[in-house]
Amino acid sequence: MIFKNAQAVIGGEVKKVDIRTENGLIAEIGENLSGGEVLDCAGLTALAGLVDIHVHLREPGFEKKENIESGARAAVKGGFTQICCMPNTSPVIDNKVVVTYIKAREKEVNLCKIHPVGAITKGQEGQELAAIGGMKHAGAVALSEDGKSVPSTKIMSLAMQYASDFGLKCLCHCEDRELVDGGVVNEGYYSTLTGLKGSIRAAEDIIIAREICLAESLDLPVHICHVSTYSGIQLIREAKARGVRVTAETCPHYFTLTDEAIKEFDTNTKVNPPLRAEKDRLAVIEGLKDGTLDCIVTDHAPHHADDKNVEYNLAAFGISGLETSFALSYTALVKSGELTLPQLAEKMSATPAEILSLKGGKIEVGAPADLTFADLNEEWTIDPDEFVSKGKNTPFTGVKVYGRVKYTVVDGEIKYEEKRK
Ligand code: DOR
Ligand code: ZN
Ligand code: ZN
Repeated sequence: MIFKNAQAVIGGEVKKVDIRTENGLIAEIGENLSGGEVLDCAGLTALAGLVDIHVHLREPGFEKKENIESGARAAVKGGFTQICCMPNTSPVIDNKVVVTYIKAREKEVNLCKIHPVGAITKGQEGQELAAIGGMKHAGAVALSEDGKSVPSTKIMSLAMQYASDFGLKCLCHCEDRELVDGGVVNEGYYSTLTGLKGSIRAAEDIIIAREICLAESLDLPVHICHVSTYSGIQLIREAKARGVRVTAETCPHYFTLTDEAIKEFDTNTKVNPPLRAEKDRLAVIEGLKDGTLDCIVTDHAPHHADDKNVEYNLAAFGISGLETSFALSYTALVKSGELTLPQLAEKMSATPAEILSLKGGKIEVGAPADLTFADLNEEWTIDPDEFVSKGKNTPFTGVKVYGRVKYTVVDGEIKYEEKRK
């Protein structure tokens, strides 16, 4: 197949080229290529297939919220060719049987690549390490207790060491449960205004600091999930400067929204960690710019309306993000001049792939033919009724964005094509 006339983001450059794929790989990149079925991509931008290393697919156990098929459909619609799914399912992904089940479902669904993330402890109960070796052999690409932190520092330190013995990294959700103490929003002006219980930045920062200390002492890598605080970003920046092997991610909602969004009590704004203040939002953008924050993930957390159409305190935490992430990021970061398009591509493809040693993330000869074609000039309005994810929970309803995914190609096959209106 030849994808013709797209503007391709290749390394630090954007250039008009043809891309020829063969046997699932990128075979040739150049001008006026021939020899295969042709798809004219004039006017579109070709990016290395987007990679999201933090997604909740809810299967097994919570298929009312999402399943592997609906989640994968949302992924390819959002331009993602590879996603990593978090272990807070039921049963928890804490052994090779559940990992094997997800890999089997990945094959059946046959849309994007799905990489399971195993739990750190059995049942995510924080007591005993999960069966790490078995999960690795079955196809787990990382370990995480996502949804919470591992309370015991001792167990976390053992986890990092065992993970490393199996060539895996820990992806750390940072939250001191005692300090959060039932808080549902950021503590500040808007928690006071609404009367909703606040959670202070330190609840996140203390665990970020703990994971950094462990990584530094043990000289092991660690990855910090969904960073939301200016102070947490500073901890990571300083750790990186002294050579700690720490990487970090953030999500579109942390650089596009602040806790002001909670003032109407819309439960779609309830997310963990919570939306913070303007100072934090600006620090997240600065962190993305200076490389403190390595990549952008969705933390796609689909929920059923029953879990959100309740009072704020009782609502589930999370935002359905796969179908809006690229456009929100492109609009808020590239259109606004904060990042260049190649820098955004790096944060959404190359670097996340690199963090977990996944193949792909780059447009180069010999790489898997994972490609995302988007019309960057198309303006559209976010409407959850159009989501293919079962999770319609978005705080971005009615927001106008630029950048519409037209084709998503996985191993040389078109897995998503936007239907013409
Ligand atoms: O908002 C969130 N939702 N944060 C998490 O850590 C977990 C996630 C979920 O599983 O719904
Ligand atoms: Zn989390
Ligand atoms: Zn998560």
